[in-house]
Amino acid sequence: MLGGEEPTKKIIPENFNLITLQDKKMSLLFEQNCLAGIQLRNRSVRSATYEGLATEDGLVTPELVAAMEKLAAGEVGLIISGHAYVSLEGKASSRKLAIDRDECIPGLAHLARAVHAAGGRIVVQLAHAGAQALDGSIAVGPSPIKKAMGETICRALTVMEIEHLAGAFAAAALRSREAGFDGVQLHAAHGYLLSEFLSPYFNRRTDAYGGGIAGRSTLIVEILRLIKEKCGADYPVMIKINSEDFIKNGLTRKDCLAACAIFEKNGIDAIEFSGGAMESRKGCEPIRKGDLQPDDLPYYFEAAKAYKQQLKVPLILVGGIRYYETAAKLLADGNCDYAAFCRPLIREPELMKRWRSGDTSRAKCISCNLCMRPVMTGKGLFCVVEERLKKTERK
Ligand SMILES: Cc1cc2nc3c(=O)[nH]c(=O)nc-3n(C[C@H](O)[C@H](O)[C@H](O)COP(=O)(O)O)c2cc1C
Repeated sequence: MLGGEEPTKKIIPENFNLITLQDKKMSLLFEQNCLAGIQLRNRSVRSATYEGLATEDGLVTPELVAAMEKLAAGEVGLIISGHAYVSLEGKASSRKLAIDRDECIPGLAHLARAVHAAGGRIVVQLAHAGAQALDGSIAVGPSPIKKAMGETICRALTVMEIEHLAGAFAAAALRSREAGFDGVQLHAAHGYLLSEFLSPYFNRRTDAYGGGIAGRSTLIVEILRLIKEKCGADYPVMIKINSEDFIKNGLTRKDCLAACAIFEKNGIDAIEFSGGAMESRKGCEPIRKGDLQPDDLPYYFEAAKAYKQQLKVPLILVGGIRYYETAAKLLADGNCDYAAFCRPLIREPELMKRWRSGDTSRAKCISCNLCMRPVMTGKGLFCVVEERLKKTERK
């Protein structure tokens, strides 16, 4: 459990078995609420997860629809789709979802309808892989980025290209609205293009898109304004951002909070905290390996605490939440407004329903990251450990 927890106290009446003050506070996780006009059945979020279930050219498949329906039926409050590329050179890996052309709309509309019919809500994560593009030969970024070996892996975008890209994000948001999604989330974390613009490690520009944190936030502010202009001021726009890059000369927590203040001023509807990139201290920073114990703090807990002291826009916190008590205490203490999960919902899409029904034992996910294997090899997302267990039981 998180530090500083109050001792459990009985409330009146005395015999109100097991219902303690602590339990009452915990129920915040299952509080119905409204996020930027989206009615949600609870405060849980499925953080964006690349499922590798789209067709090779990014169209929605029945498998992807079934996976999202399962999450909605499992009572996740808000589902954030796996990252969808807004422009082909920004595609990060195979079988990624696309939202870069109108041809994608009918499939996306089918997906949104299926989630709504199952009582869920869904937003699309809009992304551009930047330097991490699948086709390295056409990779672009704020500045030329060199690998440790000295090989150039991306070239710097021109100002005209940046303006064009802002337009591509806005056009994708419009497609999302046309398809019936409840909103969009900009992927500005994990070293993808928008994250690279925010980071002084990746962004060495000296024009209006670089320099201090205000300059490095310019592209995102322009995208935000364009989306609100095209889709209407009330169309929800959220952002996932690194609370820190964990890279020498990368985005610091202080600059992250400064960027959040800029986004708040420009009408962002929710901010999700994550952290790190490929270049970070342990390579797999956003998906740290290793099981969590009840006393372990979520990965970006300190940053979330600092955020909540300074900003008003609702905060979604992802990374390392495995215990019901952890999620409930985060909310009860006001350290975030929404608790987000990725790997736990790969293993147990019905986790929220299980917890709400009274079985609040820990999420089964052990953070082994084996789920990355099938998804990266074109087999689609599943929990390898769970699959092995099922096979053993069948024998
Ligand atoms: C298989 C897999 C796919 C992921 N895909 C995305 C993605 O598309 N967009 C994104 O922002 N984060 C992605 N992430 C990161 C997660 O959203 C999340 O930030 C991270 O896993 C930490 O949360 P957790 O401890 O609850 O798993 C992915 C993680 C995994 C394991």
